[in-house]
Amino acid sequence: MKGLVEAYRALSDVYLKGSWIGEAVKRNGVLQQGKTAFRLVHSVVEHEFLYEYRISQLVEKAPKSAVKVLLKMGMCLSDEFDLPDHAVVSAVVETAKQVGKGGVCGFINALLRRYVTEGKTLLPSDDVQRLSVLSNRPVWLVKRYKAELGDAAEGRLTERLSVKTHVRPSFAFGKDALRLALSERNVGFEETDHGFFIGEVGAISDLLSEGKATVMSHSSIEVCENLPYAGGAILDLCAAPGGKSVYLAEKYKAEVIACDVYEHRVELIAKYAARMMVNTVRPTLWDSRLPMEGKRGAFQSVLLDAPCSGFGSLGSNPDVVLNRTESDLDDIVLTQKQLLSVACDYVAPGGALTYATCSDLPSEDERVVSSVLENRRDFIIEKQAYTDPRAGGGECYYYAVLRKK
Ligand SMILES: C[S@@+](CC[C@H](N)C(=O)[O-])C[C@H]1O[C@@H](n2cnc3c(N)ncnc32)[C@H](O)[C@@H]1O
Repeated sequence: MKGLVEAYRALSDVYLKGSWIGEAVKRNGVLQQGKTAFRLVHSVVEHEFLYEYRISQLVEKAPKSAVKVLLKMGMCLSDEFDLPDHAVVSAVVETAKQVGKGGVCGFINALLRRYVTEGKTLLPSDDVQRLSVLSNRPVWLVKRYKAELGDAAEGRLTERLSVKTHVRPSFAFGKDALRLALSERNVGFEETDHGFFIGEVGAISDLLSEGKATVMSHSSIEVCENLPYAGGAILDLCAAPGGKSVYLAEKYKAEVIACDVYEHRVELIAKYAARMMVNTVRPTLWDSRLPMEGKRGAFQSVLLDAPCSGFGSLGSNPDVVLNRTESDLDDIVLTQKQLLSVACDYVAPGGALTYATCSDLPSEDERVVSSVLENRRDFIIEKQAYTDPRAGGGECYYYAVLRKK
């Protein structure tokens, strides 16, 4: 199998250096090795908690991290790829030699052989631990879902949906033209209300670079489609890389003030708007926890797409749970509340504020809204919903439309 060395190096970066999968695969040339190597990296991380558990059951003393990476690759190749067990064991042993871990080949060989014969069905008997390994989330997070969702937690946590890439046309290019372009290129697609799920974005890279189409998740579009617009400029308080700002600017031909706290991310908004040939987006460097002078009650439509844990898009980004602690989550929730309190002040009477996250954990969603609205009796919740991960390509986002009286 091609690309095992590159996959090992990328996984080592993820586990030992805390890199994101996206950066690690790029840095180590995984994509040049083909789709299988990339799928392996992703799939190992998607089964992190399961493989950690099984390794802990199969050996008395925890192996060094680099050895664990090789073991997890072998376990994943055996479970998720259609390969004979002997081929998996010898491929991983060969990889160990190539990456300078020849000294542990015997151990890896023996452990993977044990894994394929007696390790593949090992699961914890404790309910919370079992959910942790099956849902690929740490125990503290499983406890949090159980505390917040009760009986619904198990279903939410164990549902594994296939992740699909969603593309939409620019408003100028249009859906019919994109459908035709996909058909002419023999790109398989599944049509949605606002675009297409497709398997291979490489086949339309020219349309992407010409701004005729763009990758935008189905759930993000749903959030935008539910944002009430009543004229005037839209204030987007956490806007980078600009997906929703550009969509709203295109849809309503509106000016969008697109704020972000990081300079390099504000540049992403400008680049994205330029690529999509939208000239009404105003990239703005601003810390949205602070009130903007002179803008109180100035907008009919405000969007706060808050920084969040990303737990609602674990299918695409399984790495977001790897290093996240419970106190990180508490910090995120605090920031969300600060941002939402300040955001309320920009809304004109009768106007609306949309609060959104890409998390399906109530602490970041309805609990943030209800906590802030306790002190804002001038707002009502007009609508709140989670996007349906089955319709949304595996993602579950939250949004609430808050109407100012
Ligand atoms: C979920 S992302 C926004 C995605 C964006 N709305 C889109 O659709 O492309 C959250 C953004 O909030 C930004 N952010 C975090 N803290 C912020 C703050 N205090 N003020 C403004 N932006 C902030 C982050 O840099 C990040 O770009």
